[in-house]
Amino acid sequence: MAQILPSIFGADIMYLQDDIHFLEEEKTEILHVDLMDGNFVSNIAFGPNQIAEMKKNSKMVFDVHMMVQHPKDHIDDVIATGAEMISVHYESTPHIHSILQKIRKAGRKAGVVINPGTPEAILEYLLDDIDYILIMTINPGQPGQTFIRKSLEKIRQTKELIGERKIQIEVDGGVNKEIAKECAEVGAELIVVGGALFSGDKKAQYQALREAIK
Ligand code: DX5
Ligand code: ZN
Repeated sequence: MAQILPSIFGADIMYLQDDIHFLEEEKTEILHVDLMDGNFVSNIAFGPNQIAEMKKNSKMVFDVHMMVQHPKDHIDDVIATGAEMISVHYESTPHIHSILQKIRKAGRKAGVVINPGTPEAILEYLLDDIDYILIMTINPGQPGQTFIRKSLEKIRQTKELIGERKIQIEVDGGVNKEIAKECAEVGAELIVVGGALFSGDKKAQYQALREAIK
């Protein structure tokens, strides 16, 4: 069963508390939280301190998407936020395997993220060390981009690679309700949505998104 993961990066920073409250009221299970270092990606967003503060004030499961150049230097701080799910970009470190192991050792779910230009074949030797795979469906860093259609094929191929293992596929970037449906149909279970949820009538958009993937 697929589910929508609201991306808090898409919310209005001036109404952050209201938006978190809204998501709780809507019984959101998992919140997607972007961590950007202005280096691996040009943008800068929520650091571990801000994430820990949000986490303290929420009952949602936190899924932290690390977009940082040196994840090894930040992983302890991210673990300390209390986030239950932590994902790291394959492209951001030569030591992806050891970082994934560290996340799991801390009792959290470990995810590996791949950029649009990274082939899914690199996942092969990580399959025993991950709980989820985040397939970027835009180039990370900026909101409001267009979904890369080729990602649908990548989701299909990744699903095949996973086989019978208990690994979930997550997608992130440029997803609206039509695309959410397409992603769910080819095997994505965790569907991140920023702009298409937080712009306009949030309640109606959220409803429509959830309806679309049923
Ligand atoms: C972008 C982030 C996303 C972002 C998605 O680099 O990883 O989580 O919030 O926003 P939309 O859904 O608007 O593309
Ligand atoms: Zn993200």
